[in-house]
Amino acid sequence: MINKMGLENDIQYVLLSEEQIKAKVRELGAAISRDYAGKNPLLVCILRGAVPFFADLCKEITDYMEMDFMAVSSYEDGMTSHGIVRIKKDMDKSIEGRHVIIVEDIMDSGNTLNHLTRLLGTRNPASLKIACLLDKPERRTCEITPDYFGFIVPDEFVVGYGLDYAEAYRNLPYIGVLKPEVYTDVK
Ligand code: PRP
Repeated sequence: MINKMGLENDIQYVLLSEEQIKAKVRELGAAISRDYAGKNPLLVCILRGAVPFFADLCKEITDYMEMDFMAVSSYEDGMTSHGIVRIKKDMDKSIEGRHVIIVEDIMDSGNTLNHLTRLLGTRNPASLKIACLLDKPERRTCEITPDYFGFIVPDEFVVGYGLDYAEAYRNLPYIGVLKPEVYTDVK
């Protein structure tokens, strides 16, 4: 997995630069600050891909808010989403009566967020919304759209800023498209 030429050498091209991401996250933070003024929203980070987006988004929110974390599995080792979403780590706090925003890095088939919103909806939050940095609507298999989203992306293998391939590339500060030879067997 480790490419001795360096991490960046595996990237075919930069899809979204650090500057573009920063500007968009600032916009989303401003919108959430405005919409949730005085509501002390609970932002729930879905580990692990959402971590960089979550951290940057929270810093752009200018009013009281709280954080919690969940871990779910949708993709195992491969590249396709499974129908069943397993909760690996649940939130620590009750969401009853709270204004909850689920924070995700990407909505692909929509399967993960579809399951999560159904599950969290049963816990009687005052409101439940989704903030997702990237949206790949071409891949959607269920009817769900993020309430706040950053960018619509093409159906390419995107990594960086939290998004991984086999757990690598999450630490890239930008979002790039992976070279196909990295994830296909080239003899
Ligand atoms: C990614 C992403 C979403 C999900 C989106 O998570 O963070 O949770 O896939 O795909 P879907 O819309 O098809 O359900 P992944 O399972 O790769 O885990 P990670 O966040 O740890 O990278």
